[in-house]
Parts: sequence; C-alpha cells; structure tokens
Amino acid sequence: MNFYDGFMKGFEESSLKRERKKLIPRAHGNVLEIGAGTGANLKYYDLKKIKTLELTDQVIKNSLLQNLKNLEDKEKIRTRNVNVISLPYPDKIFDTVVFTLVFCSVVDVSMGIREVKRVLKDDGEVVFIEHVLPENIPLKYMFNFINPAWKIMANGCNLNRNFIHSFEEEEFKIKCLNKFGITVFISGCAVKAKV
Ligand SMILES: C[S@@+](CC[C@H](N)C(=O)[O-])C[C@H]1O[C@@H](n2cnc3c(N)ncnc32)[C@H](O)[C@@H]1O
Repeated sequence: MNFYDGFMKGFEESSLKRERKKLIPRAHGNVLEIGAGTGANLKYYDLKKIKTLELTDQVIKNSLLQNLKNLEDKEKIRTRNVNVISLPYPDKIFDTVVFTLVFCSVVDVSMGIREVKRVLKDDGEVVFIEHVLPENIPLKYMFNFINPAWKIMANGCNLNRNFIHSFEEEEFKIKCLNKFGITVFISGCAVKAKV
C-alpha cells in the first residue's frame, strides 16, 4: 500500500463508501468511468441500468482486472488505457461519466473537464467525488502549505484544488452536491449548463 492509499483508507471506511453507494447507482446507459484505479466503484454500479461500461485509467491496473473477474454481467464491461485530457471517443456518446478522486492529480484540469463535456450526451450526467481545498481558513492555509511535499509523496495528487470552480468555468451546472469530511471532500452530479 502506498502513502496515498494508506492515508485514504480511513476516509474510505468513514465516508467515501457511503458516498459511492449513494452516487454510483445513478450511472445508466453508456457509461464512462475515468481513473477507475483498483475498481473501488465496481460493486456499486447497478448493471441492470447499464448498456456498456468503459472502465478506463491512464494505466489499467492488474488489481482492477482481478476485481472484474468476480463480477457477473462482465460482457458489457470493457477496460482501456485512457488519459482524460485526450479521450479516444467520438462526441456525445456517453449517458453518464463517472470519476472519483481523479482530478486532484490530472495535470491539465480544464482540458480534462472539456474532454468529459465533449463525450457526454447533451442530456447526460456526470457523477463525481473529489477532494478539494477545504473551506475552513486554518485548514486551507495548512493544505496550501503542505501541498508541494504532499504532491511528491502522493504521486502528483494536489490538496488545494477548487474543483467546483473549474467545473463551472467549463460550463457544467451542479445538480446535486454534498460536502463532507470537514469540506475536504465533495460528491455530486452535474449536467451541461448550455447545450
Ligand atoms: C486516487 S486514484 C482513485 C481511484 C478510484 N477512482 C477511486 O475512487 O478509488 C486516482 C486514479 O486516477 C488515475 N488518473 C490520474 N490522472 C489521470 C489522467 N490524466 N487520466 C486518467 N486517469 C488518471 C490514476 O491512475 C489513479 O488510478
């Protein structure tokens, strides 16, 4: 287990599992998951509502492939090495795009969000969980202060991103939002603001 995974384990048990359970079953139709990692969201998909599920990551991990083996209905699931800043899909083909704890380490956030918007159908929905710069002032200072060291220890992960701002700048409208873990985490769903 690396430094980041060790740190996140407590949050996974205390709150992330609950948020995954609440949000991931919203995914329906043709679904794209970005940065699937080891497949933490896999068991929460309602596969009856899903036509195809593209599980992607910049590098598909063996642990994801292993976790997939135990799943029923896997004929509708495909894995693919994909970087969010350059999605190898045509415009407007996905009903749902899912990403959880991914944009903290994407180098060009705006480019990634624009790609998500491009491949999402006009009536499609994005489902997300991210960690962001907390609202509490002392914590905000602390997160900004430790970010350079954290980024090195945690594989390029940033503690001080304002994901909602970046998302809204690229013309997404937040439909549902929950802040948790003393506002370190956000989870929610969003749609295109203009179609
Ligand atoms: C912290 S892990 C989260 C994994 C999983 N989504 C979860 O909720 O546990 C971040 C994942 O995002 C992937 N990732 C980071 N940057 C990416 C990018 N530019 N494009 C696609 N995947 C990326 C990493 O490879 C990693 O698997």
